[in-house]
Amino acid sequence: MKKFIEGIPKAELHLHIEGTFEPELMFRIAKRNDIKLNYKNIKDLKKAYNFANLQEFLDIYYMGCNVLLHEVDFYDLTWAYLLKAKEQNILHTEIMFDPQTHTERGISFDTVINGIHRALTQAETKLGVTSKLIMSILRHLPEQAAFVTLEQAAPFKEWIDVIGLDSSEIGHPPSKFKRVFQKAKEEGYLIVAHAGEEGPPDYVTEALEVLHVNRIDHGNRSLEDNDVVSDLIERKMALTICPLSNLKLKVVSDLKVHPLKEMLLKGLFVTINSDDPAYFGGYLNENYIEIQKALNLSKQDIVQIATNSFKASFLNEIEKNAMLLKLKEFTDV
Ligand code: HPA
Ligand code: ZN
Repeated sequence: MKKFIEGIPKAELHLHIEGTFEPELMFRIAKRNDIKLNYKNIKDLKKAYNFANLQEFLDIYYMGCNVLLHEVDFYDLTWAYLLKAKEQNILHTEIMFDPQTHTERGISFDTVINGIHRALTQAETKLGVTSKLIMSILRHLPEQAAFVTLEQAAPFKEWIDVIGLDSSEIGHPPSKFKRVFQKAKEEGYLIVAHAGEEGPPDYVTEALEVLHVNRIDHGNRSLEDNDVVSDLIERKMALTICPLSNLKLKVVSDLKVHPLKEMLLKGLFVTINSDDPAYFGGYLNENYIEIQKALNLSKQDIVQIATNSFKASFLNEIEKNAMLLKLKEFTDV
């Protein structure tokens, strides 16, 4: 089963590029930029990767970002993930970046996006890994700041396909960003939002009805409300489930009680993703492997989830079919 999971062609749809920042690279870039980290060494830093909730993780995640200063830093970060994606048979990846995490520290928007974009184009030509770029809005900041970010993105519209919503969920419902997402939609962007990770099922409903999302990130807590579940099924709305993230951030107490199987059985459109792999103990294949073991998922379940990953992507129908064909070729042998 492990070999099968490692080999199966798949797409990743929920991945924060800043969450792929491995301690080794972090220390290397810190040294290069003459920045002192608050941790003596890699071992010391890794000891801090013990989170009671989303906020404790975010505090460390934002701290790690402080060493990213130059275009090449964002390029190196993105390229390291793309090499990993290639190794894991990820044919297509839809990655998020948080521009405000960097612009708030005085780094220019173009420095960030130029570095990320250069790695993404190179991956397409050199690795054959395709991608979409999702610009995520930090929900703990005011809506006005999101409007500024949307404006900064305008010259790079060709490079950005989707606007997302992430960071501290509780107390920052999707409706707080109603106007900025309306503007983003009018400008032609697709929309995603983190909802129902720590926040209540109402936040999922708001993401659907107020932001008009094309996909929900996480959505675990939807299961607490049958009406929300029926609504998601009726809309064929994809959820990007992140098992190891859920475990590390105490959204679930154990992978054995993770709701993924129940979601599949109910007919929800679920995918598996890694979220912030450098912090949560595994990349995409590790997420598939660990959840398969914990829930005793069948090969058929794995094929279903990999199929969903292409179907729920923002590729066009021709591109989706080409990747689904590769998946079929793999499962037919
Ligand atoms: N949830 C919300 N915001 C985030 C996450 C997450 O898992 N990772 C990075 N920003
Ligand atoms: Zn996330």
